[in-house]
Order: sequence, then structure tokens, then C-alpha cells
Amino acid sequence: MSASTEPLRVAVLLSGRGSNLLALIKASQRDLPIALVGAFSNKADAPGLGLAAAAGIPTQVFEPRLYPDRAEFEQALFAAVAASGAELLVLAGFMRVLGAASVEQWRGRLINIHPSLLPKYQGLHTHERAIQAGDSEHGASVHFVTPVLDGGPVLMQVRVPIEPGDTADSLAARLLPEEHRLLVAAVRLFAQRRVRLDDGRIFVDGVELVEPLRFL
Ligand code: GRF
Repeated sequence: MSASTEPLRVAVLLSGRGSNLLALIKASQRDLPIALVGAFSNKADAPGLGLAAAAGIPTQVFEPRLYPDRAEFEQALFAAVAASGAELLVLAGFMRVLGAASVEQWRGRLINIHPSLLPKYQGLHTHERAIQAGDSEHGASVHFVTPVLDGGPVLMQVRVPIEPGDTADSLAARLLPEEHRLLVAAVRLFAQRRVRLDDGRIFVDGVELVEPLRFL
């Protein structure tokens, strides 16, 4: 078996619920060729850690308050991630901004799922902001992480309609299952070794993306 057919070793960083991690767990139990090698959190009580543990995935918690500063916290966290042997690191509801030094180490191997059609609505409260803006559609994006928050090159997006009367909660509930499918599809491209980031440009199957792939 050649190296390229080995399951891709994937680690996940999360801070909360962990439904995106669960989507990866379930997909890996079906046909997604990944090995989840670690789930890492900045929150000891993140429910996602329980999901990981139940699936036999090693978990580790790094609480920022236990470190003298952000740099030392991130050094400890990223040393553990590296020790897990991860080839791809997925931010799935990781609610901390990472410093440039950490991000640079993982350039091209670090992705985030964000609940908006980037570049729209970087940051928080994306559902509410899309509704307030009067948008007719909303969505989620999987993007490479760069030192700019929610600002890295976007690999793939999924769209959902905004319906009359939608609230942030109803819109979030419509989007979440699509986010899960999107993340699995994006990680599958990595597992198939089809994606490359080169000088800020994304290549899929050797062809430069001129706009994000659209997941239907
Ligand atoms: C998701 O909406 C994701 O897009 C955002 O944070 C949320 C995490 O949800 N970055 P979960 O913890 O994966 O359930």
C-alpha cells in the first residue's frame, strides 16, 4: 500500500458541543479514510470531549489560565497536537483566536469551519447578522486558517436559504446539518490528498481554485 492511501491523521480543536467532531467520527466509521488521532480543547467541560472519548479518541485539555501567557499556552497545545502525529488540524468550534506563530507552523494543514459565506460575517453572531442584513441566503465555509481571523482562503462552501420569519436559532438549526456534510466533504478532499495551499492559493487536483468549491 502506498503512503497516499493511508488514512489521513486528523486532530480536532474544539471548545464546546462537538457536533462537527461527531460528524467526522461518524463519517470515519463509514467511509471517510481518516484516523482521528486527538481532540484538544481549551475548555475542560466541553461536551465534545465526551463524544471523542466515547469514540476512543485521545483527548487533552489545555486551559489558558494555567499558562503565564498566550504564547506559552499555544506552545503547549501545539506541541501536543504535533505529538499526536496529526497531518491535518481541524478547528471545529474552537473559540479562541490563535497567534500567528502557531498558525504559521500549520500553514496549509490547518482548516476551520465557519458559519457564514465568507468573506461575509467574519467573527461571531453570523446567523443574526445575515438575517439583519436582509440576506436571502446564508451558509458555511471551510477555509484555511491564516493569522487573519476567519480571513484565510476558502476551500468549500454550502448555502441554505433564509426563510421569512427566521430567527438566529432557526437559521442555525437549518445550517448545522449542512455544515456537517460540508466539513466531511472538505476533509475527504484532504484525505484523498487532492488539496494543496501554495503561497495563499488553493489547488485542487493541481488546478487553482478561482472561487470556493460549492457543496450541494
Ligand atoms: C459551528 O457552528 C461551527 O461552524 C462554528 O462553531 C460551531 C461549533 O459547533 N465554528 P460544534 O461544537 O461543532 O457543535
